[in-house]
Amino acid sequence: MMKIRVAAIALLGLLAGVAGSVADDYPSRPITMIVPFAAGGPTDVVARIMAEGMRASLGQTVIIENITGAAGSIAVGRATRAAPDGYTLSIGHWSTHVVNGAIYNLPYDLLTDLAPVSLLVSNPQLIVANPKVPATDLKSLVEWIKANPDKVSAGTAGAGSASHIGGIYFQNFSHTSFLFVPYRGTGPAMQDLIGGQIQIMLDQSSNSLPQVRQKQIKAFAVTSKTRLSVAPDIPTVDEAGLPGFYISVWHGLWVPKDTPKPIVERLTTAVRAALADPATQKRLLDLGQEIPPLDQQNPAALAAFQKAEIEKWWPLIKAANIKLD
Ligand code: MLT
Repeated sequence: MMKIRVAAIALLGLLAGVAGSVADDYPSRPITMIVPFAAGGPTDVVARIMAEGMRASLGQTVIIENITGAAGSIAVGRATRAAPDGYTLSIGHWSTHVVNGAIYNLPYDLLTDLAPVSLLVSNPQLIVANPKVPATDLKSLVEWIKANPDKVSAGTAGAGSASHIGGIYFQNFSHTSFLFVPYRGTGPAMQDLIGGQIQIMLDQSSNSLPQVRQKQIKAFAVTSKTRLSVAPDIPTVDEAGLPGFYISVWHGLWVPKDTPKPIVERLTTAVRAALADPATQKRLLDLGQEIPPLDQQNPAALAAFQKAEIEKWWPLIKAANIKLD
């Protein structure tokens, strides 16, 4: 019996040593960050800012790979099947790593098939419209939608995406009804909103703010309790007449489960370095993103938050009986 125990201890020591040596020279080649929506959208923008910010700490390039479809669930599935070697990262957010689990019959478990690295940034949504929509505030927008239900369509990034769920909750809060038009991300959807092919969108502030500033679209409210410091003229939903309509699209970074702990720690260190970098902070804050406190920038905090969000949102989403497109 003693021989077996000694052998087991030796094997564990060997495995620990192998994991340690694997992590010692990690990363020895470029890393791929899988983005679950189309290029040019808010998730892609956060990914590219973080990839650039992490590069110095990692000493390797972080390559962005956009994999679209099914509101990001295809991309997350690809990440769960990747080798747990630290060379495939899964960036996502509230809808891809929480909501999708209540809408799609996923071939993976959002909590156990991925290992958390860190929370990243969060931003509220803006209720935005094409400038030709004849409304000057949220109340008149709701009245216009009610008067023209067959003329109003909202862009989304697919059934279950943040823009889709935000749109459904907007309908519930405002007692309106309108069509949803799915895109491969709110980056492409934004082009049609500016062009007038669609009329409104519940869009992450980071995606809409540049166009609002250029007056290519107009914003009626922000889905948070306080105004965005970088956009102080956009009223909150409480001020604009839809009290309590709060939505925050928070982002996180994950790796495939069983990724060695030293590699996860290395990636967490790189995320913290990026979020502490003044230039990276400025790019994120200018887009209305909020950076979590340092004590939330770790795997345990992301794991606890994601679990709490699943417990909060799955019953609500399932009760809403959201239909896939
Ligand atoms: C995107 O990157 O396109 C967005 O995350 C999708 C959304 O906000 O619905």
